Order: sequence, then structure tokens, then C-alpha cells
Amino acid sequence: MDATNERKQKIYAVVLAAGKGTRMKSSVQKQYMPVHGRPILYYSLSAMQTHSQIDEIILVVGAGEEEYCRSRIVMPYGFTKVSRIVAGGAERYESVKNGLDAIGAETGYVLIHDGARPCLTAEIIDRAIDGARGYSACVAAMPVKDTIKIADGAHFTKETPDRSTLWQMQTPQSFSLAVIREAYRRAAAHKELKVTDDAQMVELYYPEVRVKLVEGAYTNIKVTTPEDIMLAEAFLKDRAEQI
Ligand code: CTP
Ligand code: MG
Repeated sequence: MDATNERKQKIYAVVLAAGKGTRMKSSVQKQYMPVHGRPILYYSLSAMQTHSQIDEIILVVGAGEEEYCRSRIVMPYGFTKVSRIVAGGAERYESVKNGLDAIGAETGYVLIHDGARPCLTAEIIDRAIDGARGYSACVAAMPVKDTIKIADGAHFTKETPDRSTLWQMQTPQSFSLAVIREAYRRAAAHKELKVTDDAQMVELYYPEVRVKLVEGAYTNIKVTTPEDIMLAEAFLKDRAEQI
């Protein structure tokens, strides 16, 4: 594809907010918890909305929360790129599938992002888009800092993989739509999928395509447990001052 045609390819963002947030142990689901007065979900939607290369955002929320998200988040904050709000599924990959289905048969690229990662920046989005264009499948990642062990069922250490080969996965995970659709299509033939991210979906079910790592950021945390709220607050301080 030449450069002009390439630039015309649409870029979608699927923002996932259909999880239950069980590890956060809070009464309000983590994606709606406030940080500097705005719901966590606001920040990643804002990063996608203000990025010039993102054309459309598909927001995936819990079944029954569509109207809440439209009237309390999408409309008041002016997220005009959100073209569809769809219900997710019980597992993350089912939520992704529903988001991809909402894009229909369009060509182009998609960035799949956890709504629970509010510290997304324009630079990470740039790298995710370049990676999708260059490699068809890529994931934002960072080298792990800690030594990682494989433990046995009784919690005794078993093995120590070489740390220089270990990376922690983040989002966005970005793909050409043709590739991620094909991975999900092939996966549909299998029962009891145990995939935790979309890169793994491609690794397992579309191994002809290699997934490239692009640079994320150590600040691009997933808000998962209560102490992560404080980290997000610190990392988003500058952005809150601009609001
Ligand atoms: N997610 C989703 N649909 C699911 C599960 C997760 O859209 N069925 C989304 C979450 O909303 C989150 C992202 O995927 O933005 C990453 O998932 P995770 O951090 O595991 O969030 P939860 O599943 O909500 O949290 P927990 O695993 O602690 O229950
Ligand atoms: Mg989860």
C-alpha cells in the first residue's frame, strides 16, 4: 500500500470498561472511581479524543451501563469521537470481540486499550499506530524491573526465567483489523480460551503474524488494586492542572 492510501486507512480505538474490578474491592467499579475529580475512564477517552490520528472510539461497558456512560461521561466531556457504546462480555476477550464486531467489516487499524489505564499519552498512541502500520500486530510493553519466578502449586520457587527476556504487557495493543479479526475468527473454533490479552490471541491462533513490542511507559499502569489509585493520582497530576 502506498503512503497516501495508508494515511486514508481509518484508525479505531476500542476502549474497554466492562470489567468488574474485583481486585479493587470497592463499591464503585474502578473505571468510574474519581481521580482529580474525574472518572478514571475519562482520562484514556480524553487521550484518544485529542489524538489527531484517532478517527473513532468504540466504548465497551458493562451490560446495562451504556446509558450511564453516555449521559455521565461521553456527553458531558464532549467525547465526540465515541461512535458506539456497546456491552461487553464476561471475559476481556469477549468484550474485545463485541468492540471489534461494532466496527463491522471496515479496513484499517484498531488500538485496543484498557479503560483502567488512565495514564495513556499521545506518544504511546503514536508508537501504537506506527507499530500497527509497520507490523500489523503490536503491543505496548516495558522491560520488567523485578526478578520474576515461576512457582509450583505449593508456592515454592521452581524456575527463574532470564529477566532480559521478560516484558510486562500494557495497552494499547494495536492491529490491522484484518489480522485481529482473523485471530478472533480462528479462536472461535476453540473452547475455554485462556487468553488475557490480544497479543496472546494472535500468538495462539494466528501465529503466522509476529507481535512486535513497542515502547509503553512505566507510568502507563493498569489501575488494579487500591494502591494504584494513589499512583494514578500522582501520574495524572499535571493533566488535572490543565483541566
Ligand atoms: N474488561 C472488560 N471486560 C471484561 C473484563 C475486563 O472490558 N469482561 C476490561 C476492564 O474494564 C479493564 C481491562 O479490561 O479496563 C483490564 O482488565 P482488568 O484490569 O482485569 O479489570 P477487571 O477485570 O475489571 O478487574 P479484576 O480482574 O480485578 O476483576
Ligand atoms: Mg480482570
